[in-house]
Amino acid sequence: MTTTMVVTIDGPAGAGKSTVAKALARRLDVAFMDTGAMYRALTVKALRRKVNLEDEGALISLAHETHIDLLYEPGRPLQVILDGEDVSEAIRTQEVTNKTYFIARTPGVREVMVHWQREMAGRRSLVGDGRDLGTVVFPQAAYKFYLDADVKVRSQRRIDELRAKGQAVDEMALARDLAERDRQDFTRKVGPLKKADDAIFVDSTGMSVDEVVELMVQHIRSNGRRV
Ligand code: DC
Repeated sequence: MTTTMVVTIDGPAGAGKSTVAKALARRLDVAFMDTGAMYRALTVKALRRKVNLEDEGALISLAHETHIDLLYEPGRPLQVILDGEDVSEAIRTQEVTNKTYFIARTPGVREVMVHWQREMAGRRSLVGDGRDLGTVVFPQAAYKFYLDADVKVRSQRRIDELRAKGQAVDEMALARDLAERDRQDFTRKVGPLKKADDAIFVDSTGMSVDEVVELMVQHIRSNGRRV
């Protein structure tokens, strides 16, 4: 029997987790799992169905009748498939970004997500990014990282990202939303954002994506894996 390998990257919004996780997955020649995209996809479905986001029972039922796939090929954007439909764009709207909080705070929904994430990791080696991967989902992960950056830098990265896509940005509102998302992530009762005791802390303030990836690769190499 072959065993799969899991690398976890947790951290706050805008720390660059997805970009780094993608690049690291490529270096390691393993899959990439964006767990935030899964919470977002379920939010899309809840909003479309006009499910009451305060109704935990309804959200849990919805999770049970949903199928989410993440298709990732190196060098291509991640495809997020919700019940057979590509929702890769739909999950990135401001409304979904703000409302995912309701999905993420519901313990029964998190249980379903954790189950899916473990299933994916059971099928293939992967680098996953999220909030609770090193603490809750994969406490036995081979390598764990916690990626952080100064809040101003995280804000600026997000502004640059949106501008690059040609979107108008309200900088004050964006900074406010980011601070609010931090608060929600850190204070959630189940699966809050927290550095696992055995995770390597990486402060990416002032570092490029390549530098962060290189630092992670060096750590993995020094712990016995050929990269
Ligand atoms: O990483 P992201 O911004 O795409 O995450 C979207 C939302 O999902 C965010 O509000 C935090 C939540 N999330 C979570 O609760 N647990 C995870 N493992 C990943 C994301």
